[in-house]
Amino acid sequence: MLIDNFTVRSPDVTYTDTHIESKYTYTSTDLNCEDLGDGRCAWTISPVESDFHFSTDRRIPRLGIMLVGLGGNNGSTLVGGVIANREGITWKTKEGVRVPNYFGSLTQSSTCRVGSVKGQEVFTPFKTLLPMVNPNDIVFDGWDISGMNLADAMERAKVFDWDLQRQLAPYMKNMKPRPGIYDPNFIAANQSARADNCLKGSKREQMERIRADLRDFREKNALDKIVVLWTANTERYSEILIGLNDDEKSLRSSVDKNEPEISPSTLYALACIDEGVPFINGSPQNTFVPGLIDAAVRLNTIIGGDDFKSGQTKMKSVLVDFLVGAGIKPASIVSYNHLGNNDGMNLSAPNCFRSKEISKSNVIDDVVSSNSLLFRPGEHPDHVVVIKYVPYVGDSKRAMDEYTSEIFMGGTNTIVMHNTCEDSLLAAPLILDMCLIAELSTRIKIKGPDDEQLRGLHPVSSLLSYLTKAPLVPKGTPVVNALSKQRAMLENVFRACIGLAPDNNMLLEYK
Ligand SMILES: NC(=O)c1ccc[n+]([C@@H]2O[C@H](COP(=O)([O-])OP(=O)(O)OC[C@H]3O[C@@H](n4cnc5c(N)ncnc54)[C@H](O)[C@@H]3O)[C@@H](O)[C@H]2O)c1
Repeated sequence: MLIDNFTVRSPDVTYTDTHIESKYTYTSTDLNCEDLGDGRCAWTISPVESDFHFSTDRRIPRLGIMLVGLGGNNGSTLVGGVIANREGITWKTKEGVRVPNYFGSLTQSSTCRVGSVKGQEVFTPFKTLLPMVNPNDIVFDGWDISGMNLADAMERAKVFDWDLQRQLAPYMKNMKPRPGIYDPNFIAANQSARADNCLKGSKREQMERIRADLRDFREKNALDKIVVLWTANTERYSEILIGLNDDEKSLRSSVDKNEPEISPSTLYALACIDEGVPFINGSPQNTFVPGLIDAAVRLNTIIGGDDFKSGQTKMKSVLVDFLVGAGIKPASIVSYNHLGNNDGMNLSAPNCFRSKEISKSNVIDDVVSSNSLLFRPGEHPDHVVVIKYVPYVGDSKRAMDEYTSEIFMGGTNTIVMHNTCEDSLLAAPLILDMCLIAELSTRIKIKGPDDEQLRGLHPVSSLLSYLTKAPLVPKGTPVVNALSKQRAMLENVFRACIGLAPDNNMLLEYK
């Protein structure tokens, strides 16, 4: 059974006109080692309870999303998809009439268990846990180094069926991306042919122009909040050097000195931080150089990333977690991809591919290090990722994976998977989720045992980790890649905001 509205009745939860206040007891553990000599410990583990207070602003803002790479496959697919949902556009294919939906969006199309009534399990949409923006109400804008209007960009992307494109075109032909920051030094040379909509001037001037665009968008559309998300081409990695970008001061001075090693994505992100606008990185490059993270923390502006976790990596973060959790030892993981869209063409440049290879490589690290019964310290499965550009398949990415594991008594088990999917149809709902969750994060305040008063969540948003391949987390926080843990973390934090315990799956009421 699905319920789409509810109020929590509890002495620890208060609803005011503007806020939900929740007093929450968090249970964790304290570990203690009693030294037995010769480096060995007698361990004690003690449950500990700490008091938290969550305060969530219930007022849903008028939200604007600006995409960097608005005219790309993901950008045009997301905007078209939201318009189709908003306007209720249906379209014909050879299989019959299709209706719009938000499938693939955690917030819009997944549910959470809230209990049971007379033995029947009861669920609620994820988006009902806390007050969230309705995607149909979002205002879109953004930048692209290609000046093509969004109707033509959607046609260039070859993602939607023609009958849908035909009906969306009138809504999209007047949407033209704002000029973007183009630096051929950071993306593949093969992108130069489409770069006809580029900002001029020094890095400082370009950054100021992005800031002006943010203010202009906010004012013209009477927006309460903006979120910016990078879905532009994958850049190469930036070098991290002392005095260049290793702290906020050096980064800002490098922008002023027009240092060539400051990437476009870092400039957009810094502009957003300075305007108090959350910035999410959907690509693998290291936009968030140390100086940028310092700036976000100092100015308390949310940043999140990196690289959408949409297909092959999502499967990997499920499968490796399952194998290792079952006591099976993955020994070799080999992933091949080929794709034929503009992202694939850009990734055919070795230094852009390298960014992708890094973000795809680390996803098994925490799972492997969680089980030293299977893996000796330092031991790691062989893990290889290959990506090839094959124009014919367009946006329909093919991913082939082979997992070979060691099983009982010297046996081996090989699992082979073939995954075919329109890449942008996987990514667009993730973009939506990231922006909606980032916006909501700005409305949640927390007070833990060490805080004197309520404060915002940490500006480096680990809540977005379910949606990213290489989760950016605050310094000192463990990186979790396993998909089910990432989802549980997000759901349980939302539940805590309304005073509900984590869904622990114990079902003791039935035992
Ligand atoms: N689709 C997926 O499933 C998926 C998954 C993970 C990551 N990604 C990443 O998302 C990004 C976008 O993917 P896509 O398929 O939409 O690619 P795309 O090439 O179709 O779109 C990218 C757009 O960005 C524009 N652009 C490039 N540099 C820019 C800049 N500096 N400023 C403004 N615009 C700029 C390009 O002109 C292009 O229109 C890629 O980096 C890709 O690796 C996609």
